[in-house]
Amino acid sequence: MAPRLLLVVAAAAASPQAYEIGKLPAMGYNTWNDVRCDGVDAKSIMDLAHGLVKSNFSEKGYAFLNVDDCWQAQLLGAGDELVPDAAKFPDGLQVVVDGIHALGLRFGLYADRGFYTCAFRAGSRHQEEVHAKQFHDWQIDYLKYDSCWAPNLRRQGALEDYARMRDALAQHAPGVHYSLCGWSSWYAPLVSNQAGYHSWRIGADCDEFANIYEAARTMEGLAHYAGPGKGYNDPDMLVGTSTGAVTLTPRQSRTQFDLWCVLAAPLLLGTNPARMNNWDLETYGAEDVIRVNQDPLGRQGVPVHSTCPQHNPKDNWWCSPWSMPRDVFEVWTGLLRALAAILLTSAAVLRGTGRSRLAFMTFLLAIGSVGYIRVLHDHRPRIAACQQVWAKPLADGDMALLFVNWAPDDIAVACDAECLARAGLAARPLYVRDVREKANRAPLVDGASVLVQRLDGGGGSVLFRVGW
Ligand code: GLA
Repeated sequence: MAPRLLLVVAAAAASPQAYEIGKLPAMGYNTWNDVRCDGVDAKSIMDLAHGLVKSNFSEKGYAFLNVDDCWQAQLLGAGDELVPDAAKFPDGLQVVVDGIHALGLRFGLYADRGFYTCAFRAGSRHQEEVHAKQFHDWQIDYLKYDSCWAPNLRRQGALEDYARMRDALAQHAPGVHYSLCGWSSWYAPLVSNQAGYHSWRIGADCDEFANIYEAARTMEGLAHYAGPGKGYNDPDMLVGTSTGAVTLTPRQSRTQFDLWCVLAAPLLLGTNPARMNNWDLETYGAEDVIRVNQDPLGRQGVPVHSTCPQHNPKDNWWCSPWSMPRDVFEVWTGLLRALAAILLTSAAVLRGTGRSRLAFMTFLLAIGSVGYIRVLHDHRPRIAACQQVWAKPLADGDMALLFVNWAPDDIAVACDAECLARAGLAARPLYVRDVREKANRAPLVDGASVLVQRLDGGGGSVLFRVGW
């Protein structure tokens, strides 16, 4: 394996110079999972940029600093242009973009194809050219283009909206990584391999582990659409354990990262690099794991063994019960519960004053609210108690194999001879390396050999690199 390792190191060292837009999955940081709207201001963004550099994450490839929703004012300016929120960016956006470029980072921005963004800031609908010119003036490098408050929910209309911004970027702001955020897997066949599209969201926001399961299951059928020149399926951003508006357990967070690497997914950190605990530093800093994600073949992994039930990707839209972000769900069900309580009390009062017909109507409304809360709960994403082995071919002929236990209890997961053969690993002996532990296992020597690993429940996983 020694000569191969040398080649890998040389390729990794050469990658910053060889940057080609969208050629490999994007890597960086995005504000949304970390600070939501509250930490989106000039000072915090510059602090984040310094944190990315000082922590050495930028050197490891995390080059994009992407500012998500809430950087804009609520209304467009007099010339229909996007206006940075004056309280958050008192000196405008340019100074921030320049500061980030001066640190050797790339700058990403968020906009929306509807009338408003998801957090009610001004959208870009029918102002695509004006906004693309602004993006060019600011010299942004990445655009995440969301789908809230867009009248076009159907595929054709959504694609027309996305194409308008793609054309505007091509004409006025060439060289911008264009990242679609339409929350649905049907984008993949329609935009993969099309000029100007570099990545596309395939499902709902990943703000709890069940969404990560959903995203992984949805990715199973989309491997064919990912690759250099085609673009990449985007199962959403990373969720850490340290700081952040959303967090996962350490085990789940690491499994998400290793899985995202095998899935050739964009790696956008959701935790402030300057305040990461050791666990997150190790999770996101492991260069051998990052290398799996950034492998030059750009192949997306597929399951070669699965005990999971059949899965049908859901067609998501903003605020559908199964794609509603966790925080929106909490607020919404809280309001509905309060409404139900008010309605029930009012029904009792009305009944006491003899207005029984009105009391009955009010009672029915209360029951309706409770029923709707039930529907929302019933449609939340759920994890099936199953196990999978994912395989991603690598440029040096090795195979990355990720074992995942989605079930709540510990269990041994096996990749038997058939599973290995499905991964293209028919030759023997097979050399097995635990990538995170940096430890070699005993080689598999005969055709019937099995690779077995005991995994913790609740999202345990292990990543192997297997070759001959
Ligand atoms: C949607 C997107 C998220 C994030 C928020 C911002 O929910 O899917 O990734 O950008 O909007 O409001």
